[in-house]
Amino acid sequence: MKPAVLFGSIFAAMTMPLAAMAGQATSASFGHTADGQDVQIVTLTNSHGVRARVMSYGASLQSLWVPDRNGKLADVVLGYDTLQGYLDHRQYFGATVGRYANRIAHGKFTLDGKSYRLSLNEGPNSLHGGAKGFDMRVWKVLDVKAGAQPSVTMEYVSTDGDQGYPGTLTIKANYTLSDDNQLKISYLATTDKPTIVNLSNHTYWNLAGEGSGTVMDQALMIPGDAITPVSDAAAIPTGQMVPVAGTPYDFRMAKPIGRDIRDGSSQQLLFGHGYDMNWVLSRKEIEPHVVARAEDPQSGRVMTVWSGKPGLQFYSGNFLDGTTVGKDHHVYRQGDAFVLEPQLFPDTPNHPDFGSARLAPGQIYRNVIVYRFGIDHTGK
Ligand code: BGC
Repeated sequence: MKPAVLFGSIFAAMTMPLAAMAGQATSASFGHTADGQDVQIVTLTNSHGVRARVMSYGASLQSLWVPDRNGKLADVVLGYDTLQGYLDHRQYFGATVGRYANRIAHGKFTLDGKSYRLSLNEGPNSLHGGAKGFDMRVWKVLDVKAGAQPSVTMEYVSTDGDQGYPGTLTIKANYTLSDDNQLKISYLATTDKPTIVNLSNHTYWNLAGEGSGTVMDQALMIPGDAITPVSDAAAIPTGQMVPVAGTPYDFRMAKPIGRDIRDGSSQQLLFGHGYDMNWVLSRKEIEPHVVARAEDPQSGRVMTVWSGKPGLQFYSGNFLDGTTVGKDHHVYRQGDAFVLEPQLFPDTPNHPDFGSARLAPGQIYRNVIVYRFGIDHTGK
């Protein structure tokens, strides 16, 4: 064989799989809000058939199909098949939450000597940004990219005074799917006046597939050795940091989510009707590291979560009460999903010991969350 022909055939063999490997990114309308805004849904697919759908209502992860140990795909996030489901029920399914994810006591805080009052939406407190958080906004789709790492970037501009927060905040949410089955969400924000920011993602996970029942047998590991306990069912932190050793909150070694959830020796579990607590991962922002690992022993699906934020809210779907019908006519009941929200500690603006949520003009706020999916072949 002549060298040129050999080169040609090697070249053909190399380029074909490369072309087949490229990821796809497509965009379509997902319907309209009551005030007529068009909501887009972007589908990102990698060469293994892993598929993420991200909608511009709430910059939310609408679905994510990942393989089990036999290669069978399942959608591992709870949600609705249609936009109407999301418009009718504010459950933060897959959503980007902010301007301040989690709670601010009495919706009050002081910044640079000035007091602010936020919109209240959970009794006397402000939760996940207030009455109209970022989860309820239609984000602008800036960019949809196919290629080795299909991605979508969305933007939302929150005006000065929105829900009581000072400063115009410009937020970009980027979702990127890699060919090694990682979904990376990057939140970036800038402001024109000092403000407070804490953004996170509120996906409800069920590694056996949404609608498949309880996650109580799915194993979870959280490498945090303390929690920030709350004073009552309103879930405002007392300001303390309490070691998890010897409590149902000890997830330093992986254990089934349900193993200690009925252990009534912890008042904290009763306040939240299950797990609904912030874990202390670090005392300040650090380089992204593993903040949780979850595994479904039946399917072998494993999810590892990375972030650099100091806190992780783990919520065991306690208030899913069987009253809403999600995808494919599935009814979601208590404990049918878990939520892992890397973020600042709750109510940080009122606890100087917890750090700072302040963002000033010229600074860039970042929360990069990576979810890596794999398979455990050692199970079943
Ligand atoms: C909170 C829960 C709340 C849930 C709403 C979680 O982040 O910690 O208390 O019920 O969000 O879906």
